[in-house]
Amino acid sequence: MDFSGKTVVVVGGTSGINRGIAESFARAGAAVAVASRSQAKVDDTIVALQEAGAAKAIGRAFDVRDPALVSDGLAWFAAELGTIDVLVSGAAGNFPALAADMSVNAFKTVVDIDLMGTIHVLKAAYPFMSRPGGSIINISAPQAFLPYEGQAHVCAAKAGVDMITRSLSLEWSPEGIRINSVVPGYIEDTEGARRLAPTQDALEMVRRNIPLGRLGTKDDVANACLFLASDLATYISGQILSVDGALYQRGSGQLGQMIGDMLRAARPAGEIEG
Ligand code: COA
Ligand code: NAP
Repeated sequence: MDFSGKTVVVVGGTSGINRGIAESFARAGAAVAVASRSQAKVDDTIVALQEAGAAKAIGRAFDVRDPALVSDGLAWFAAELGTIDVLVSGAAGNFPALAADMSVNAFKTVVDIDLMGTIHVLKAAYPFMSRPGGSIINISAPQAFLPYEGQAHVCAAKAGVDMITRSLSLEWSPEGIRINSVVPGYIEDTEGARRLAPTQDALEMVRRNIPLGRLGTKDDVANACLFLASDLATYISGQILSVDGALYQRGSGQLGQMIGDMLRAARPAGEIEG
C-alpha cells in the first residue's frame, strides 16, 4: 500500500490499536496527524511516526468531549496538512462495571467519549475532507452488536457509533466521502483487552473462544484500515467490518458472562446479586 501524497488524521491515535493504525499509514508514506488528551503521548507518537517514515507527523492534545477544542484541532490539522484524505476516529474509554454498580455519570462518561466524541470529530473534519476520495473509518467494537455483562455503557455507545457510520454513509457518500466502521475483536497487548480480560486465565478463555485460535494484532486492524482507505475499496461505504478471527460468529455468551462473573465476585460480601 502506498499512501504517499495522502493525509491521514487519527483521533485517539497515541496508544494501542489506533497508534498502530497511525504508524501503518506512516510506514506507507502518508502525512499523519494524531490527537488525544495527553500531550506527552502525542509528542511520543510524533517521534514514532517520523521514525516510521511519515511524510509529515504532527499532533495536538484535546479531549473529544469538547466540541470547540475538537473543531480547533481539526482546523489546525487541515491548515498544516491540506485536505484530509483519511480520518480515523477511535478515541474511546472503557471499564467493566455492572449497571447496578455504576453511577449515571460513569455511563455518561463512556457515551460522551465514544459516541458524542465520534460525532464531534466527524462534524469537525467534514468541511476539510477530500471530495471525492475521502475515507472515514470509525473504530467500533463487538459490543455494538453483541450484549456483554458489565458493558451496557460501551454497548450503547458503540451501537450508536455504528449507526452514525451507516446513516452518514447515506448523507456523505453522494459527496464522495466514504465512511465505514472497523470492529477489532480482542487485540493483544492493548488497554482494552487488559481491562476486559485482566488475568492470564481470562485471556486464555478468550483465546479458546476465537475460531482462528489467536488474539488479533494491531497490524491486523491497521491492515483493514489501509484497505478501506485505499483505491481497492472505492465502492465500499456504510459497512461494519469485523477484524476478530471470527469471534463474532460465536456470539458474546461465555465472554460476556465471564466479565459479569468477575465483577460479581469482586463485590463486597453481603451486596445483592443481580
Ligand atoms: N467502575 C465504575 N465506575 C467507574 C469506573 C469503574 N471501573 N471508572 C470510572 N468510573 C466512573 C467514575 O467514578 C466517575 O463517575 P462519578 O463521577 O459518578 O464518580 C465517572 O466514571 C468518570 O470517571 P473519571 O475518572 O472522572 O473519568 P475520566 O474522564 O477521567 O476518564 C475513563 C475516563 C473513566 C473512561 C478512563 O478509564 C479513561 O480515561 N479511559 C481511556 C483509556 C481506555 O479506557 N482504554 C480502553 C479503550 S477500549
Ligand atoms: P487505548 O490504548 O486506551 O486507546 C485509546 C486512545 O484514545 C488513546 O490514544 C487515548 O489517549 C485516547 N482517548 C481516550 N479518551 C479520550 C478523550 N476523551 N479524548 C481524546 N482522546 C481520548 O485503547 P485500545 O484498546 O487500543 O482501543 C482503541 C480503540 O479500539 C477504541 O476505540 C476501542 O473501543 C477499540 N477496541 C479495542 C479492542 C481491544 O481489544 N483493545 C477491542 C474492540 C474495540 P489519551 O489517554 O491520551 O486521551
